[in-house]
Amino acid sequence: MTSQINSFEEYKTEYARSVADPEGFWAEQAATFQWKKPWKSVLKWNFKEPDIKWFLGGKLNITENVLDRHLAARSKQTAIIWEPNDPNTKPGKITYKQLYQQVCQFANALKAQGVKKGDRVCIYMPMTPELAVAVLACARIGAIHSVVFAGFSANSVADRIKDAGCTVGDYWWHEIIAGKRKSCKAQQMDSEDPLFILYTSGSTGKPKGVVHTHGGYMVYTEYTFRNVFQYQDKEIFWCTADIGWITGHSYIIYGPLLAGATSLIFEGVPTYPDPGRFWDVIKRHKVNIFYTAPTAIRALMAAGDEWVKNRRMPSLRVLGTVGEPINEEAWYWYHEKIGKKRCPIVDTWWQTETGGIMITPIAGITPTKPCFATLPLPGVQPVLVDANGTEIIGNDVEGMLCIKYPWPSIIRTTYGDHERCRQNYFATFKNMYFTGDGVRRDHDGYYRIIGRVDDVINVSGHRIGTAEVEDAINKHEDIVESAVVGFPHDIKGQGIYAYVIVTEQITDHAAFKKQVLDIVAKEIGPIAKPDKIQIVPGLPKTRSGKIMRRIFRKIAEGDTSNLGDISTLLNPEVVEEIKMGAV
Ligand code: WTA
Repeated sequence: MTSQINSFEEYKTEYARSVADPEGFWAEQAATFQWKKPWKSVLKWNFKEPDIKWFLGGKLNITENVLDRHLAARSKQTAIIWEPNDPNTKPGKITYKQLYQQVCQFANALKAQGVKKGDRVCIYMPMTPELAVAVLACARIGAIHSVVFAGFSANSVADRIKDAGCTVGDYWWHEIIAGKRKSCKAQQMDSEDPLFILYTSGSTGKPKGVVHTHGGYMVYTEYTFRNVFQYQDKEIFWCTADIGWITGHSYIIYGPLLAGATSLIFEGVPTYPDPGRFWDVIKRHKVNIFYTAPTAIRALMAAGDEWVKNRRMPSLRVLGTVGEPINEEAWYWYHEKIGKKRCPIVDTWWQTETGGIMITPIAGITPTKPCFATLPLPGVQPVLVDANGTEIIGNDVEGMLCIKYPWPSIIRTTYGDHERCRQNYFATFKNMYFTGDGVRRDHDGYYRIIGRVDDVINVSGHRIGTAEVEDAINKHEDIVESAVVGFPHDIKGQGIYAYVIVTEQITDHAAFKKQVLDIVAKEIGPIAKPDKIQIVPGLPKTRSGKIMRRIFRKIAEGDTSNLGDISTLLNPEVVEEIKMGAV
């Protein structure tokens, strides 16, 4: 077990120590796990290439720490509670011993299919315990899992399978596990061997495959789980994210199970059969720690307080949010109506690329402020920079968020294209990891995340690249060109606004809109469907041919009073027409 911070004073001491001696600090945490062979050195890094390695020469298998290590003390303890979509279907429970056996059995099934260490396995499954089993079974035999969110379309899955060169997919579960042994020796892995690939959107081109490794990811997810939520032995933890996203990887599967916790997997949605579903599940399963996205909180808040009123949830101890900025109204509602003012809220900022939580309050320890992710965890060294890459020192400042020192679960590469990793994260500012987020640091040194500074839209906590949506929309035969921006949306945080140029006069607008939405759903998935589509005569472009998105953003926000200088545009005359036609 990694160490746990017990007071704000201790946080400050631990933080200072982690900066003064990062290697000593993380070596101490790493030493609490089972290693097949100890590491020879703790860290070797440069952000130039980048080349980042933690626990060099160490040999391990993460699943021995998720499963085998717990068998002595926890074999009968529930590892996974499964709450099916249908509230009348009996929930499932899997003990650590059963999870061990199921993972081994599926690992043997994968081996029988010819899967070996280093092979990529694409997993496209609904939110069932079998998904967690499949993920861990890959790790057990050293195969690299690539989970694709079940809400993505077939085309998106195909893109990800091709990019990762995946070899296995779509067999019938019961057929391939039949007769397989329930034990399977864990493949010995190097600390730096890839554990998984997870695709995420950036500002350009197709989604990129973020790569995380066995050693550092293990140490960091367990440490952050234990500390951020102040996890206490035998508690029930529920993270509502989908396992297809990083939050599900790190805080449904790996973090909680590494810590020996009971993790709840929910198959359904917050509003089925009614908007009281979350609160029912918490009550019924006596959930202690609840971790969800602001978009869900806003949707349930909008459904009215009556869904919460009659549901007592005395088991709740800690509440968390993740994925997007939380607005003040939602924060207070969560605090008062759900937490009854007695549960600390941890607003956790992090990314697919960071592997685990980075800037966050520590539950019950860090004094919170609504909408602030507050302070960095030990080992995390955030800096603010201006457009020239100069560090902004002091408090009461705003800038772009970078991290200047590696932490154990930092992205290692983008699968099959290391240069893309360098370009995206390490080339913008010298010797720094660039997050793509804008941030404010207030007079107390607290961090407040403002949002993306690149062309990524955050819809209901899902990252969507504008370029991806434009590529999809442009497949419509009557559309010549398009530009997509985000705009503030009450429930989703951001909505998608698409401007399109068409070749033919469109007479049936409803039918046209439906065609566009269908194409986006087919190419990417329903989550990327635009909320608004406006037909425009042209796109405002600079003389170098770049779309001036600033103008589109303003119009989408409904703020056309000050569009800034448009005299440098190639075609300033289109702006007035676009303003008039805003939807
Ligand atoms: C945003 C999700 C504000 C941010 C774990 C980041 C947040 C992107 C927060 C990563 C938060 C995440 N407050 N914004 N607490 N957490 N974000 O890769 O813009 O799906 O860059 O990882 O979500 O999204 P991703």
